[in-house]
Amino acid sequence: METIDIAGSIGLMAMVVLTINIILGIFISTAYKKTAFWQKLPPQIKALKLIEIHNYTAYIALSLVLIHFILIPLDPNSKFTFVHFIQPWHAPHQALFVSMGVIAFIALFVVVMTTQQVIKNKIGTKTWKNIHVISYGTGLLFIVHGLVMDPLLKDRPIDFLDPEKLLVELCALLLLLAFIYRYQYKVKNK
Ligand code: HEM
Repeated sequence: METIDIAGSIGLMAMVVLTINIILGIFISTAYKKTAFWQKLPPQIKALKLIEIHNYTAYIALSLVLIHFILIPLDPNSKFTFVHFIQPWHAPHQALFVSMGVIAFIALFVVVMTTQQVIKNKIGTKTWKNIHVISYGTGLLFIVHGLVMDPLLKDRPIDFLDPEKLLVELCALLLLLAFIYRYQYKVKNK
């Protein structure tokens, strides 16, 4: 397995963990414990502390994204250097979509950092919540990035039926359903 393949697999893992993280965040922000769906779940599941899992998955995702993009320049065939993280628009392949990945990473970093108790206390709950809303945009960015990036770095068009891209599409569908659910909750509870 080439370094670039490992980087791609870790990118996919990061995407799955981030999808779970965003969906959990949506559950938490919509009084999930009161829903008929949650009430019907087995006691073992109801005993889970979603807030803790939401926190852990954010750290896991951030670490996976870091490994994902640190590995890429280590593959000499990739033609990537560490400078491309700071200037992704100069990336040797699919610069626009690499830039989307970089913005998604920065957004994730900002959300995780502002959730640190010391910073959260300083900025206040209202600002913290407003910053947290960035996550919806982050979701869109990493989905487009993951779907369009060619794992072989040959700038090939998207193969929508490739198993890896099918996984991206599944995450996109789950996020879309979660966003719709969140929007409907907001409208009902105005
Ligand atoms: C939230 C942040 C990110 C997520 C969730 C993510 C996820 C992904 C996914 C799912 C793929 C496709 C893998 C495949 O189809 O096999 C991918 C590819 C790629 N990503 Fe990211 N990525 C992120 C950030 C970044 C950043 C910051 C860079 C910086 C250079 C980057 C560079 C690349 C490159 C070059 C590829 C194509 C090569 C490969 O598959 O490894 N990504 N990423």
